[in-house]
Amino acid sequence: MTTARTSDLWWKNAVVYCLDVETFLDWDGDGRGDFQGLTERVDYLAGMGVSCIWLMPFYPSPDKNDGYDISDYYALNPRLGSLGDFVAFMRTARDRGMRVIVDLVVNHTSDQHPWFRASRSSRDNAFRDFYVWVDKPPRQKKADLVFPDAEDGIWTYDEKTDQWYLHHFYSHQPDLNISNPVVRDEIAKLVGFWLELGVDGFRVDAVPFLIETGDVSLDPHTILRNLRSFISRRRGDSMMLGEVNLPYGELRQFFGGAGGDELHMNFDFILMQRMYLALARQDATPIREALSARPALAEGSQWAVFVRNHDELTLDKLSDGERQEVFEAFGPEPSMQLFGRGLRRRLPPMLDGDGARVRLVYSLLLPLPGTPVLFYGEEIGMGENLDVPGRLSVRTPMQRTDERNGGFSPAPPSRLTRPVAHGRYGPLAVNVAAQRRDPDSLLNWFERVIRRRRETPEFGWGACAVLDTAGDDAVLAHRCDWEEGAVVAVHNLSPEPRHVRVRLGDGKAFDRVIDLLASAEPQPLNGDMLEMKMDGHGFQWVRLQRKEGRTVP
Ligand code: NOJ
Repeated sequence: MTTARTSDLWWKNAVVYCLDVETFLDWDGDGRGDFQGLTERVDYLAGMGVSCIWLMPFYPSPDKNDGYDISDYYALNPRLGSLGDFVAFMRTARDRGMRVIVDLVVNHTSDQHPWFRASRSSRDNAFRDFYVWVDKPPRQKKADLVFPDAEDGIWTYDEKTDQWYLHHFYSHQPDLNISNPVVRDEIAKLVGFWLELGVDGFRVDAVPFLIETGDVSLDPHTILRNLRSFISRRRGDSMMLGEVNLPYGELRQFFGGAGGDELHMNFDFILMQRMYLALARQDATPIREALSARPALAEGSQWAVFVRNHDELTLDKLSDGERQEVFEAFGPEPSMQLFGRGLRRRLPPMLDGDGARVRLVYSLLLPLPGTPVLFYGEEIGMGENLDVPGRLSVRTPMQRTDERNGGFSPAPPSRLTRPVAHGRYGPLAVNVAAQRRDPDSLLNWFERVIRRRRETPEFGWGACAVLDTAGDDAVLAHRCDWEEGAVVAVHNLSPEPRHVRVRLGDGKAFDRVIDLLASAEPQPLNGDMLEMKMDGHGFQWVRLQRKEGRTVP
């Protein structure tokens, strides 16, 4: 029974890896990554222990927003491959036991999508109501703007038909009219198409905007519930992972609340932001507070935890003062900041290349209650390229070797999708090939901790509690219990060594602890207090062994 449940709800103990086909590996030599290249590297991902690949948009697109401006939902961008290449990739991933989810971007289309071309052609065109048109735009607040650098409003005037259309993002990304049932049917149809091609689910883009309706008789959450029922009917073990950057109180409903019948997973943007505040302060209190404030979820629901993604590191849910603290610690230069709310950097440069601290952060990420989501290149410690504009600074090509273009492509550098990183974090210093040969490399460390994380499902499934650390605020200790297992992770955010004392709550039930990351002998446990010596920025994951009962390795 348990095994059936754990494999049905596979996302509860997955390790997700996000990548853009365009920047992963160029196989045909045109300067752009492609599906053939990705297929060649599926074994690399499987070897690392990744269990689910999230593909950023790969559809036909004018590429004005890195593929998030889609002009055809039923095809591949021809520069990335054919549908045949896609299916070959899916088959290979499945053969290696990996799931695949794809970006579902249906809040908006590109303005080049045939639906929008038809819609804007005349007021009585059959596609007019696929988008949101008004005679006079309502008043808008500065806060409504997602891209304040490029847009000064979310409505754009279209001369031909003398009306304004809605676009929460760029003006070349008109919002679909979700209130129109025909649009909802079209979304179901395209979701069904990709499910038939074998995908295991979707990372759903911009969900709060997507379900915003102009129709008071249509409850926005009914839209998500219906989509959930539809995909579950088509494929019972499919999953939706939502991009919903909202306070916990509002976010809970996007899971479907206690019923858990909307999005299966949502990114925890609050915890991510508070983690950076904690790192800046060398004090775990902001993480403790976030974990304690998280709402309870239904069994099939799950948090997705992450350190970085493909966008700016948004700090929009911190207070102005807190955001300033993080800016000062991790991105003091204006060129490192974006939209006044975020940082366009990857983690290692933010930590000034301090390897111990980089490992501390990922050691903290993996056992956080939820499912970890990695962004390509994190496993080797890639940096950003600030010469590349805006959010694209962190989307540079994957660095495989120390050869030209970091081994990403044989094409002349001028033909690449975008330039590779250079300097301290460029391919000469940071690449897969060199790290594979070094047993102490970040890549080999990642393989070991990912394996351990997947073998420790308590972190994904368990009931988790923040433990008392005898007043030492720099240390975070959390415990997750599930079925017969109990595990504790302890992280020292301070550079100073510590003698850590963690109160287990019911420690008398255990008599030994086993270090899950080192090969040390089991240690006897006396009473309720777990004591350990920790280096500055040190970390430990331990399993508590019961006095009686089965021994879990
Ligand atoms: C959120 C995505 O993460 C971002 O990259 C994109 O630009 C917007 N949604 C619009 O699709």
